[in-house]
Amino acid sequence: MADKTVAAWSVKALRGSVIFWFAVATIGQLAFVAYIAGFYGRAAMAGDFERWNKVLVGGYVPGGLAGNIVLAAHLLLAAVITLGGPAQLLPWIRRHHPRLHRWNGRIYMLTALLISLGGLYMVWTRGTAGGPSLRIGISLNGLLIVGAAIIAWRFARLRRFAEHRRWALRTFVLASGVWFFRVGLMFWILANRGPVGIGPDFDGPFVRAWAFGCYLAPLAMLELYLAAERRGPLSRFATAVGFGSLTLAAGVGIFGAVMAMWLPRMLH
Ligand code: HEM
Repeated sequence: MADKTVAAWSVKALRGSVIFWFAVATIGQLAFVAYIAGFYGRAAMAGDFERWNKVLVGGYVPGGLAGNIVLAAHLLLAAVITLGGPAQLLPWIRRHHPRLHRWNGRIYMLTALLISLGGLYMVWTRGTAGGPSLRIGISLNGLLIVGAAIIAWRFARLRRFAEHRRWALRTFVLASGVWFFRVGLMFWILANRGPVGIGPDFDGPFVRAWAFGCYLAPLAMLELYLAAERRGPLSRFATAVGFGSLTLAAGVGIFGAVMAMWLPRMLH
């Protein structure tokens, strides 16, 4: 009897921690979309594409038509994928609007492929901030997104929904890598009260590690969660505590990203 109560509580704790995580992450992802629209979208509407280069390193190149189109598409798709991810994970939409779930899923997977391939093209033709680690880190992120999206889509087609769910969650976590990068970066700076391990050229030890950690660490956390669902109460409680702590850290990082990066750029 007592065992059953503990098991039931562990299920509740795990679910509660995931809902807490999802709510905070969704707010943070919506803030990222608001920034993409409010900074890049607003400058584009005004025809002032050069303003993008106040943030970008490779960025907009006058006369470089093909690369500029890829960049503009990347920024537009960044808003689409960041909005589409949390919507796709809402159980309410899956249960009550299955057609919407299927269509949003197709758009999400296609966007994941296009944004990653476009991103790879930009990294290796125009460059990005930081050194080789960042370029290699984000390139591996892009390749993993493409792989996971294709596998998730295949399992959905085969109607093998347990595997589809696992691979769709992996796709979501990988596609949130660039968001995790920014949020983790700001958490790190706030926690250390300064840019420890970052370096003036944005190529310090922290940046090199986080270039890979920003998607591998969340992926490991997801795997722990998927395993905990099938394991005993202890593993579920431990994962719930892990999620709770990470959500608090993400909250700090989101606050930092909004205040130090996104809001100031939107307001100027
Ligand atoms: C899948 C989700 C992705 C989202 C939501 C996303 C979003 C963004 C955003 C918002 C920017 C503008 C930079 C900023 O203001 O922070 C950007 C730039 C960029 N992204 Fe992505 N991105 C994604 C994936 C990728 C991938 C997989 C790659 C590479 C393989 C990539 C490569 C780039 C490059 C090269 C830039 C321009 C950097 C510069 O010129 O400084 N992105 N992305």
